[in-house]
Amino acid sequence: MQLRVVGDQPWDVPADVLAVPFIGEPRFEGALAELDKRAGGELASLAAFGEMKAERYGTALTAGSGLRAGRVMVVAAGAADSITRQVVLRVGSAIERRLAGRSVSVLAVWLGDLGDRLDGGAVAAAELLARGIVEGEFEPATIYRRGYKNAPPVLDELVLIAPGADLSAVKAAAERGIVIGEGSNLARRLDNRSANDVTPEVLAGEARALAERYGLAIDVLEPARAAELGMGMFLAVGSGSDNPPRMIVLRSGEEGASDSLARRLALIGKGVCFDSGGISIKPADRMEEMKMDKTGACTVIAAITTVARLAPGMPLLAIAPAVENMPGPHSARPGDVVKAMNGKTVDIINTDAEGRLILGDAMCYAEKLGATHLVDVATLTGAVARALGDQMTGAFGTPQSWYDAVAAAGERAGEQYWQLPFIEEYRKDLDSWYADFTNSGTVEGGLIKSALFLREFATVPWVHLDIAGTAYFRKKKAYAPAGATGVAHATLVELALAGAR
Ligand code: BES
Ligand code: MN
Ligand code: ZN
Repeated sequence: MQLRVVGDQPWDVPADVLAVPFIGEPRFEGALAELDKRAGGELASLAAFGEMKAERYGTALTAGSGLRAGRVMVVAAGAADSITRQVVLRVGSAIERRLAGRSVSVLAVWLGDLGDRLDGGAVAAAELLARGIVEGEFEPATIYRRGYKNAPPVLDELVLIAPGADLSAVKAAAERGIVIGEGSNLARRLDNRSANDVTPEVLAGEARALAERYGLAIDVLEPARAAELGMGMFLAVGSGSDNPPRMIVLRSGEEGASDSLARRLALIGKGVCFDSGGISIKPADRMEEMKMDKTGACTVIAAITTVARLAPGMPLLAIAPAVENMPGPHSARPGDVVKAMNGKTVDIINTDAEGRLILGDAMCYAEKLGATHLVDVATLTGAVARALGDQMTGAFGTPQSWYDAVAAAGERAGEQYWQLPFIEEYRKDLDSWYADFTNSGTVEGGLIKSALFLREFATVPWVHLDIAGTAYFRKKKAYAPAGATGVAHATLVELALAGAR
């Protein structure tokens, strides 16, 4: 996709479709009045007809007669005081998705007043719109279907119309948005693939191909090396499947180097290629969704490639413990006691609480490799989905200053996080008769307990993002298809890039 940024008036821009975001109930003043006049009053008449309600992400298409664009799409951004970075991002995606199945090769988007609503103005709006349009191009139905007719159009050219703005700054920002959107789509494509297709070894192969392409160092630990390193929790989860586990380690920048904030940051992503629950097997209902239990791994693999594209040589580590959690003659049994890489012993009372086991060893390994700051991203608990739904990721962190740094990156990325507390009182529910602790407690406060478990494996600043609710949508939205959302990718990219020189 070519990107062009122009300072022309929207009526002067040739395109197949001209998208016009509007805020609140549209008022036909200034440039919008002029656009309407040149379109023969079509927009005002749409509004009078009731097609331009303020309901967010609603769209209407009309002829562009009198304009240089073939058609005009109006898209509602919602009430003026509720426009956030996430809204602008999703306006971009909604525009692109509204065109699904249509023939469009040149799409023009008029930034209008959107920039006035954001810190960073038109430059920020352009980055988010461009990223949103790229994310809107993603269509999971094309992964396994040939000749699918209803995919959003693959654009030849995107034209951003930003009269009066600093065009070169707008262009640079939009280019950055495009790269971040492509990274998100890379994560989503991998993530949506099925478990018979993407085994731990296949995921490692995908990581190898990306490492080659973007100049990253890669090390894939097989079970023998994991055993030498003492990763007893990781190996216990992996033992139930014929598809052996892989600890995927990607690095950009020099070994041992710190970034400009004196951090050696490690991103750790849960890579359960399928979570049947193991011997503590899950009910059949919706078990098919557990192919998405590798979302965290796909996210960190994509994030480090995005960072390598935007800031080559930037020091960063990504670790993805990849396993299949299956019942079988070699599976871990409830009551098995294993030793973690940090020497702590764990009583596996529920084999379905597997994510925390593989993450714990991956966190220890990140520290062994010199990481000074950790962020893990994981589809860890059904509880977070029940508590917060599919719009907000549950998050924990210590110390607070490190949590705040991650939250600030999330804000720039247009993603929503809700901080949850470590409730010390609940730690004793993980006490075991046989080991240092169990891997699961009673259901009450289970979300908090999962984070208390993980905390046993961090000795440096650490943030945990539980994306079990936000990793994939069960139903499509105006701005996204059903399936993987790419959540947290942009946050991790922003967090890492804060330390770019
Ligand atoms: N992968 C699941 C969590 C999950 C649930 C992700 C729904 C996405 C949607 C995780 O491994 C799991 O099974 N968690 C258990 C933990 C419990 C056994 C302590 C859960 O949430 O029920
Ligand atoms: Mn599980
Ligand atoms: Zn799981």
